Amino acid sequence: MQILHTVSDIRHCVQNWNNAGERVAFVPTMGNLHAGHLQLVREAKRHADKVVVSIFVNPTQFGINEDFADYPRTETQDCEWLAAEGCDLVFLPNVETIYSPNAQTSVNVSQVSKNYCGASRTGHFDGVATVVCKLFNIVQPHVALFGLKDFQQFVVIQTLVRDLHLPIELIGVPTVRELDGLAMSSRNSYLSEEERAFAPKIYQILQQSHEHLKAGKTIFDVEIYAISALTQNGFRLDYFKIARRSDLQPATLNDDELIMLVAVKLGKTRLIDNLWFNK
Ligand code: PAJ
Repeated sequence: MQILHTVSDIRHCVQNWNNAGERVAFVPTMGNLHAGHLQLVREAKRHADKVVVSIFVNPTQFGINEDFADYPRTETQDCEWLAAEGCDLVFLPNVETIYSPNAQTSVNVSQVSKNYCGASRTGHFDGVATVVCKLFNIVQPHVALFGLKDFQQFVVIQTLVRDLHLPIELIGVPTVRELDGLAMSSRNSYLSEEERAFAPKIYQILQQSHEHLKAGKTIFDVEIYAISALTQNGFRLDYFKIARRSDLQPATLNDDELIMLVAVKLGKTRLIDNLWFNK
């Protein structure tokens, strides 16, 4: 497995693969890898001849009071795990490589970035869209894989690829969970032992909400149920919403493909999850 740091080295390597007619898959990450990330790599190998993973803690997607400085950085272990998964190339750029000091351009996916995580994390999805667009242009993969745990992020990137006519196939990979149901996340390491024991309640409440819908409760009633269940269990609610899956607009009676989206704070840790279903 190669580990490269510059744009020209990445381009050179991918160009050689392209010349040999090989299909290239790309998995962007911020490192501190866990089984969720590794599942993306495994899935990538099924869709391409070569797999590129980037590890870059992207400063522009963190708000001023967020955890950019504290975000866990574990590149050595990450690279060992990636090599064991059969990853071909790791792109490990520094901040100046991605953001030259005189950079002026950013990408804004206006509508789907607005609500949910976009409302509580101002500028977050501009940072995500900008860095993903840059990484796509550097690596120029045939296919790119993203986790559906970050569902709004996936829709933002789908919209970006569509609007900018990027010739990249996107694949969404289902959420990988701990045995007790908690969605795997690099931020789970911030949880205290007590909080960690409590965190799986989020997914339980999503599942119970789904049961209520299947039993005929209205979307409105289920939203009320979930919000009170989350707050009564001690989570500080950011949002709980049942939305249309295609564009994340509030669900209407005519929509069949739906998703429940949730974000809460537990202590100082922000956790998100979702559950999708068809009516
Ligand atoms: P990061 O949080 O490191 O996640 C990298 C990829 O792993 C994302 O596509 C994310 O959705 C996926 N992922 C995380 N946890 C997962 C889980 N439990 N199951 C399945 N997939 C999971 O998301 C980012 O980084 C950044 O925003 C990035 C896209 C790299 C841009 O900076």
